[in-house]
Amino acid sequence: MKEGQTKMAQSALFIIFGGTGDLAYRKLYPSLFRLYEKGYLKDDFAVIGTARRPWTDEHYHEVVMNAIADDGHESDRTNSELAHKFASHFYYQSHNVNDTEHYVALRNLADKLDAKYNLKGNRIYYLAMAPRFFGTIAGHLKSEKLITDHGYNRLIIEKPFGRDLQTAKDLNDAISAAFSEEQIYRIDHYLGKEAIQSIAALRFGNEVIGSLWNKAHIDNIQITLAESLGVEERAGYYETAGALRDMVQNHILQIVSLLTMEEPKAYTASELRDRKVEALRNIKIYSPEEALQNFVRGQYGEDADHEQLDYRHEEGTDENSQIETFVAGKLETESPSLAGVPIYVRTGKRLAQKSTQISIVFKDLKQNIFANSESDTKLAQNVLTLFIEPDQGYRFDINVKSGEQSYGVMPIHLDYHKSAAKKAKVPEAYEKLIHDALDGNRTNFAHWHEVAQAWRIVDVVRKTWDKQDADFPNYVSGTMGPEAAEELLRRDHRTWVYNPKR
Ligand SMILES: NC(=O)c1ccc[n+]([C@@H]2O[C@H](COP(=O)([O-])OP(=O)(O)OC[C@H]3O[C@@H](n4cnc5c(N)ncnc54)[C@H](OP(=O)(O)O)[C@@H]3O)[C@@H](O)[C@H]2O)c1
Repeated sequence: MKEGQTKMAQSALFIIFGGTGDLAYRKLYPSLFRLYEKGYLKDDFAVIGTARRPWTDEHYHEVVMNAIADDGHESDRTNSELAHKFASHFYYQSHNVNDTEHYVALRNLADKLDAKYNLKGNRIYYLAMAPRFFGTIAGHLKSEKLITDHGYNRLIIEKPFGRDLQTAKDLNDAISAAFSEEQIYRIDHYLGKEAIQSIAALRFGNEVIGSLWNKAHIDNIQITLAESLGVEERAGYYETAGALRDMVQNHILQIVSLLTMEEPKAYTASELRDRKVEALRNIKIYSPEEALQNFVRGQYGEDADHEQLDYRHEEGTDENSQIETFVAGKLETESPSLAGVPIYVRTGKRLAQKSTQISIVFKDLKQNIFANSESDTKLAQNVLTLFIEPDQGYRFDINVKSGEQSYGVMPIHLDYHKSAAKKAKVPEAYEKLIHDALDGNRTNFAHWHEVAQAWRIVDVVRKTWDKQDADFPNYVSGTMGPEAAEELLRRDHRTWVYNPKR
């Protein structure tokens, strides 16, 4: 089926726990509406939103309509008959997840809607709530018989999946008591991004790139997830998380696995998962000493003009906070094709520019036949850059003749950037992931083995850092992080390819 073509409409009941929350409002309702507009959801679907607030169905419809409007849809579409029809499929059930009796009311409503909309027992439980509730909800869904035996039952959960390997295991055990691994869809919204999903196409859909993607040709890999904003209103959560848990354990390691996995036999969920798990198991788990040598943490101070607050003076943060807003690290892989190729990763808040990008830096030429003096022996390395967001595209740095009378050689960029019109057509990550969950396609969801291995990789860094006080703040807002992040590459005689100035 070609992209953009409407697939057969799906019948399912969504039960959204946390139906009054931010995620539901900003992401889930607009995504469901887009699926409805495209005909992927038609008449045979219903949504039960649950949370403690005593909302009526009418009020819930208004909230859903507002969520669609705030998502930037043109007003005529938002107020259209279609939008009203869409909202009429939503039902609200006031519910405290800790109260067993409330699940009985929920089951009765679910069964009623199943019959009314011909939903064939298909249920998707979306836990848009704090993870501490996941075990309680999953247990009650089973004990109170919301899980049907005549349709599919799928559980979608959000990060953070634990604080370390042990808490992740506890959480996994709790939900696994009610749902099998095949029924669990762990969201890492980076996996829903078009440009991340394109990594496999780039690597395995091009002979020229695929044949160069190995230790004989690649010198190093660099991954940057840079944000220009500070912690904003998320200080409460951030103070318990930090950049290592918030970005490295999930998004960055997922990207690492896609970049370093061996070629899958076919592009299927199980093949891809096996290769990704293998890729993560090939990442070296450091000793505490190695973790200190290979990982750098940072926390932002004021900007150069003293106009922006340092992290410790943001609302909701601790004035002596030891939480890192920046991480840079060097990972080592033992994968057969990339062993010895360093993978430098970096993420942070209040950096010079917002950008997620990946650079594949190729090795120096073995011999430069154009060199005509001692100082002219080195040509620029070829670099393939993948722009993930906000820009989406590719850049390939190559060397060409400079155009002068003498045979000078100079670097140029071959650039492809997706136009605004093309980007607008790409479905948003949540829309894609909900679509995949409806389809039963787990390709772009994290498997437990991936999550567990990612925790093993970062736990040692976290535990080592937690034993030592950091010298924070240690970078100026609007720069690319602390000096130690530059030194991490300099000591290997390398530099960050992406080096913007604000
Ligand atoms: N927001 C995002 O953009 C985002 C992005 C990535 C991941 N996440 C993750 O998604 C989850 C939800 O985040 P959020 O930002 O939507 O949180 P939120 O706005 O705080 O929403 C939490 C929801 O839980 C409900 N709730 C709390 N206690 C309850 C209880 N005892 N029984 C029933 N309902 C209860 C709240 O409603 P009542 O107060 O009405 O009960 C509310 O609907 C979290 O795990 C978060 O880490 C969020």
